[in-house]
Amino acid sequence: MTALPQMILTPLARYGWATHDAVDRDEGAVLRELGRIGEMLGARIAGRAGAIEETIRPQASDDAHPRSLSAQFGLNALPFHAELSHRPRPCRYLLLGCLNPGSSGAATMLLDWRTLDFTADELRLLESAPVLVRTGRRSFYSTLLSPDHAFLRYDPGCLEAVDARGRCALDLVRRRLGSGLSEVHHWRRGDILVIDNWRTLHGRAPSRPSSGRRLARMLIDA
Ligand SMILES: [Fe+2]
Repeated sequence: MTALPQMILTPLARYGWATHDAVDRDEGAVLRELGRIGEMLGARIAGRAGAIEETIRPQASDDAHPRSLSAQFGLNALPFHAELSHRPRPCRYLLLGCLNPGSSGAATMLLDWRTLDFTADELRLLESAPVLVRTGRRSFYSTLLSPDHAFLRYDPGCLEAVDARGRCALDLVRRRLGSGLSEVHHWRRGDILVIDNWRTLHGRAPSRPSSGRRLARMLIDA
């Protein structure tokens, strides 16, 4: 496996995400560059619809997968979440490549949960309070924080409290994310974002119907 270039590796280790430009800005070049970076990071895995390569566009509630964030929030701002929070182990990396920024220019927001200054007591709550992870017939119980603190599972679209402690844990993360200092990425055609999904949560600014915004998405296990 080829090593990831320092210009991606250094910010990825320091901030939990990195930006990169495809050499050319046409769709084929963006997809090839995503594939090349993905291969250096780990193994590609399929998303919710079972596809290895996905193109995502802002969706109105009625058009979205019933358990997706878009079903709940539609074209409004999508709250911070970790990708694939409905899987027992969310994917390690999320790669996004801009095929078309669209007319609404909806930005992507990024926030490293480790900068949210959870106290030791709060971390204990996050790693012990049970929550229900809704994913149809495969729904399961889990916690927001993994026992080794490697990842924070958080997605208001698929997580549900089952008791008062779970409600406290979900509420704590929601409030802390709301007051955290996020980075805002404004897309240009050909931009690539490499996100450490175990560390950096992402969200989207409001969009408009038929804005034309299209991002290629790749999910990587490592
Ligand atoms: Fe997402």
